[in-house]
Amino acid sequence: MNDLDTLLAQARDEFSAARQPAELENAKARYLGKAGRVTDLLKALSTLSLEEKKTRGAAINALKGAIEEALQARRSELAEVELQAQLQAEALDVTLPGRHRPVGGLHPVSRAMERIEAIFASMGFDVADGPEIETDWMSFTALNNPENHPARSMQDTFYVDMQDAGGRWLNLRPHTSPMQVRYARAHAERHAGADPMPEIRVIAPGRTYRVDSDATHSPMFHQCEGLWIGENISFKDLKVVFTDFLRRFFEDDGIQTRFRPSYFPFTEPSAEVDMMFSSGPSKGKWLEVAGSGQVHPNVVRNFGLDPERHIGFAFGMGPDRLAMLRYGVNDLRLFFEGDLRFLGQFR
Ligand code: PHE
Repeated sequence: MNDLDTLLAQARDEFSAARQPAELENAKARYLGKAGRVTDLLKALSTLSLEEKKTRGAAINALKGAIEEALQARRSELAEVELQAQLQAEALDVTLPGRHRPVGGLHPVSRAMERIEAIFASMGFDVADGPEIETDWMSFTALNNPENHPARSMQDTFYVDMQDAGGRWLNLRPHTSPMQVRYARAHAERHAGADPMPEIRVIAPGRTYRVDSDATHSPMFHQCEGLWIGENISFKDLKVVFTDFLRRFFEDDGIQTRFRPSYFPFTEPSAEVDMMFSSGPSKGKWLEVAGSGQVHPNVVRNFGLDPERHIGFAFGMGPDRLAMLRYGVNDLRLFFEGDLRFLGQFR
């Protein structure tokens, strides 16, 4: 082995010993750099004769080519190692299940509310919202509830230990009926002097509260009030409107309704509304779904209107109960426990 072969072997060894690109470039400089060993060999050529220069020069150039080749090969090896390391560090396990945010959905009671609102809106009803903490006057007095009516007792109604600016006791509204009064009074004021006055047609859905708790009663529940006041709005209109509503809500044109005489202080005559499905598990059974009646003259007076001219009906229904019937839920409390295993079924 001549000196050039030895040098090539050494260069190859050093290149393969290099673990990093920077180390490799240092090794390269030791052979091919300005003060490198191949460069030294080329410099030494000047001392040789012309004939010797030719053969020795060609041999050194061949050596230089071989060293460059070895260098290039090691460079690609190191680049490959680096690439593999990077790929490994950034490895993705494409077989893992994806991470996703669970998609929420509307609460079943909200869905029922939206259906109710859409159906009544299509019949020209406004949708009104109002306070859940009410005065005694709005919850009871304006609605013709006598002073000693049991609904006013602490056993039935949650009171707030507070009075409003006018010294009136506050309660968590036990029904949405105070919204009849608020809406009708605002309407009467807005249209004072208008003859004829535009009709009042409104529903008021929202939360209501009573001292009550079992499978079909929750201390917080929902009601949706309805009110239609005009110059000639009768019990017949109530029957048509409410029956049509139920048929559309449950998508069952065969639903029958029954208006069973009842008593509410704020309506006269008053009726409980029962309905019967034409098919399904509760076919043939009367189900109570609402209270209703012609608004009592005293209440119309409290609206700020003349009961001789302005008449009409009101109803109050339980959207929770309608949601239970529509979705086949048998325990009202499930709606309000926030259990996602239950709620997740309504997406
Ligand atoms: N407010 C009554 C209740 O809570 C329901 C109702 C509303 C009845 C309107 C008649 C008219 O039971």
